[in-house]
Amino acid sequence: MSAMNPLPNAAQAALLVMLGGILGGCHNEAKPAAAPASDFRPRASIAEVMESVVVPSADVLWNATAYDISAEGVKDFSPKTDEDWEKVEWAGVNLAEGLNALLIPGRRVAPPGTVSESPEHELNPAQIEEILKKEPQVWVGFVHALDDTVQEIQEAIRKHDLKALNEAGGALDEVCENCHLHFWYPNDAKIISPQK
Ligand code: HEC
Repeated sequence: MSAMNPLPNAAQAALLVMLGGILGGCHNEAKPAAAPASDFRPRASIAEVMESVVVPSADVLWNATAYDISAEGVKDFSPKTDEDWEKVEWAGVNLAEGLNALLIPGRRVAPPGTVSESPEHELNPAQIEEILKKEPQVWVGFVHALDDTVQEIQEAIRKHDLKALNEAGGALDEVCENCHLHFWYPNDAKIISPQK
């Protein structure tokens, strides 16, 4: 266990770099600094993070302002008790932190070998990875835009304000769609706005 290991990895690495500097000092060689290794361990692909974290938590947020009208009357799914509200707020926490997971470098777009089921509409994961390499800041921009909207949602939840929650939920859907239009099905974006 970690008791055997008195220094965290980063500290060990720093020590080794320092020792290397002392021992290698007489050579006077300017070695390029090694890129710091990331402590993150991205396991799932972007597609899997979407399915397992982003979608389920967004669904909880959307369902909080949903109601069902049928012959039996109106069934409303809005949170009533403090516990109900807390569950919705936790979904917002999940979503926000799932978004941070989408900023971890080196995460693949989909499991190896995955190809698009409708290539006439959607790019293949390999093509998406190419765009991501070229436009990492555009990706970050969409992720942060979604997080800003999630924070508006959290604010509405803390105030138990269903109207504000409903509005921010609609904005959330738009941000999901904007990122998908840019990275996943850009050909559809051209159909929607042909002037671009
Ligand atoms: C920063 C960009 C971005 C944002 C924001 C985003 N997505 Fe995605 N999403 C992607 C990309 C890229 C893929 C395509 C991955 C692939 O090839 O399947 C994807 C795929 C998906 C998929 C399909 C996953 C699969 O199994 O292939 C779903 C469902 C989805 N997103 C839902 C959402 C929802 C809901 C939101 C908003 C709450 C959202 N996404 C926000 C980029 C984004």
